[in-house]
Amino acid sequence: MKLKNYCQPLFLAFVILFAAQSCVKQGPMGLTGADGKDGANGTDANETCKMCHNPNTVELIATQFQFSKHEYGEAAFEETGNVGCTPCHAQEAFKYIVKNSVPSTFTLNPATGKYVNNYNTIASAAYGEIGCSTCHSSLHNTYTSSDLPSLTTVAPIAMTMWGGTKIIDLKANGGKSNLCAKCHQPRPFTNALTGNVLDYVALATTTGVVFDGNPTGATNIIKPSYRTHTHYGTVGAIVAGVGGVEFPGTLTYESSTHATVASCIDCHMGAKGGKSDLVGRAGGHTFTAKGNLTTCNATGCHTSAITATNSTLWLNPRAEIKTLLNTLASKLTIGGVDILNRNPDAATNMWAGLTTNNYDGYLNIYDPITNPAGQTNNPSSFKFVGNPPSTWNQAQKDYNATLPTVTLSNAQMGALINFQLCLREYSLGIHNFKYSKALLTNSIAKL
Ligand code: HEC
Ligand code: HEC
Ligand code: HEC
Ligand code: HEC
Ligand code: HEC
Repeated sequence: MKLKNYCQPLFLAFVILFAAQSCVKQGPMGLTGADGKDGANGTDANETCKMCHNPNTVELIATQFQFSKHEYGEAAFEETGNVGCTPCHAQEAFKYIVKNSVPSTFTLNPATGKYVNNYNTIASAAYGEIGCSTCHSSLHNTYTSSDLPSLTTVAPIAMTMWGGTKIIDLKANGGKSNLCAKCHQPRPFTNALTGNVLDYVALATTTGVVFDGNPTGATNIIKPSYRTHTHYGTVGAIVAGVGGVEFPGTLTYESSTHATVASCIDCHMGAKGGKSDLVGRAGGHTFTAKGNLTTCNATGCHTSAITATNSTLWLNPRAEIKTLLNTLASKLTIGGVDILNRNPDAATNMWAGLTTNNYDGYLNIYDPITNPAGQTNNPSSFKFVGNPPSTWNQAQKDYNATLPTVTLSNAQMGALINFQLCLREYSLGIHNFKYSKALLTNSIAKL
């Protein structure tokens, strides 16, 4: 029916046109008619584009972003495809986690009798470099100013290191720090026997050992290796004052004012992300605070400017935390040998210079591939089963056998975790002085 109705007039028109062209002679042209009325204003796509695509907005920010490790860091490439790592390392994985409210719980798998970590993305979303739309959820939705900043999430975070039982909720500045802390939070330490998160309360309050020195010991809940470490993003937990093994002691676990009044954005991004907020390679969308103390008073928090030579607000508190880190490290030894690994190379140790011995937060345990200079015995490699791993050659096995055996008490393990947290928050206490000081002081007293 439709076809027929449509074809008839078309056919007729065709016949007339054909007849007109072939049989009629054209006369002279008539006069030009008057101009028609102006049409109604349409949306000028080019103008709305320019609101953002101009040298002072997106273009400027994209240039700043080149100096952000979110952009130039390589972890997004290295971890692509890994569903457990990409929630914090890759754009699509992060967006998937947020959109689907993936829980950070651990649940018991009845088949294996072990707990599994649910904080994973799916394989088809385990990719993507961190970029503008990782944090800005509405780019090109309406092509108006309401598309920015529209942050992907500012919701409180059920922390993955606690299997979701503790919450980070950094309320300053509309909760924007929660966006950062969703990724900048530690990964869980797991109990080797149960697969569940390590019980920090038990570490802090009970005697006992997590590793007795026997590689096949039936009660060991940690298998120490070079990589027995708190993952790099410790800042969120330290800022919020919820990441440590809280040994009872002389200092109470409370947070500095920064935790409630300052946001990551206040100190790391300058006021607005404009040109004037850049100080060298810091501020704005570089996201780094390194070398930029202008934000301390720009937001009206500190009444006068703070510089890197200020004693009471920069040099002294940092020196105090550095001394506490050094002292705690000196107590973490086995037969006179450091448990903590040293690495003076600033290219591979992001925390070089923060302690006198340049600890990097890893353990001083031998591994022919990952830590050939390690000085204590490797009870079992983190990758290979067996002791020593069957892939080692005889010389490696012989060398390993000459090294002192590692044992770890609950107290040592707890102190080790606290050391890693306080070293790897980078700022030597500026993030949350009171919390770092309490963790380190009470750990030292415990050992
Ligand atoms: C509210 C701000 C905003 C508006 C309005 C806007 N854009 Fe964008 N646009 C962005 C941002 C942010 C990016 C990402 C820039 C980057 O990755 O460096 C982007 C990226 C792009 C890209 C690069 C491809 C991509 O998706 O990454 C093109 C092309 C583009 N925009 C075209 C347009 C056009 C055409 C318009 C107008 C119709 C427009 N934009 C309006 C913010 C905006
Ligand atoms: C999607 C997860 C994610 C979010 C959200 C995120 N970050 Fe990051 N951030 C990372 C990762 C991953 C790295 C390291 C990248 C690499 O090395 O490849 C990083 C690196 C950094 C660095 C550089 C650290 C260094 O080693 O030099 C700073 C500073 C930083 N982020 C601050 C922030 C701030 C401030 C926010 C919030 C505005 C934020 N980040 C939001 C994942 C995230
Ligand atoms: C809960 C979030 C989270 C998870 C899950 C996570 N990471 Fe990270 N990772 C981070 C953050 C945040 C940083 C950057 C910390 C910084 O520099 O301040 C980082 C840094 C790194 C770095 C150092 C990059 C550099 O700049 O040198 C490597 C390597 C890395 N992660 C590997 C992994 C691997 C492998 C996994 C999975 C087994 C993983 N990460 C899982 C948050 C996470
Ligand atoms: C790691 C998270 C993150 C990434 C990646 C990111 N932004 Fe932002 N951006 C923010 C946050 C947080 C704010 C809000 C700052 C504030 O409230 O002062 C913001 C604010 C903005 C604003 C508005 C405020 C201003 O500075 O005028 C623009 C425009 C913007 N971002 C563009 C971009 C572009 C373009 C990119 C990519 C090149 C990008 N952002 C990447 C977190 C991010
Ligand atoms: C009170 C201000 C302040 C707040 C709030 C703050 N930072 Fe920092 N941050 C600093 C300072 C200062 C440094 C050390 C800079 C240096 O070494 O010179 C630092 C260092 C860092 C570093 C490593 C060095 C770098 O590139 O800046 C990361 C990563 C980081 N902070 C992430 C965060 C995250 C994520 C938050 C929010 C959860 C946060 N910070 C909150 C001031 C702050």
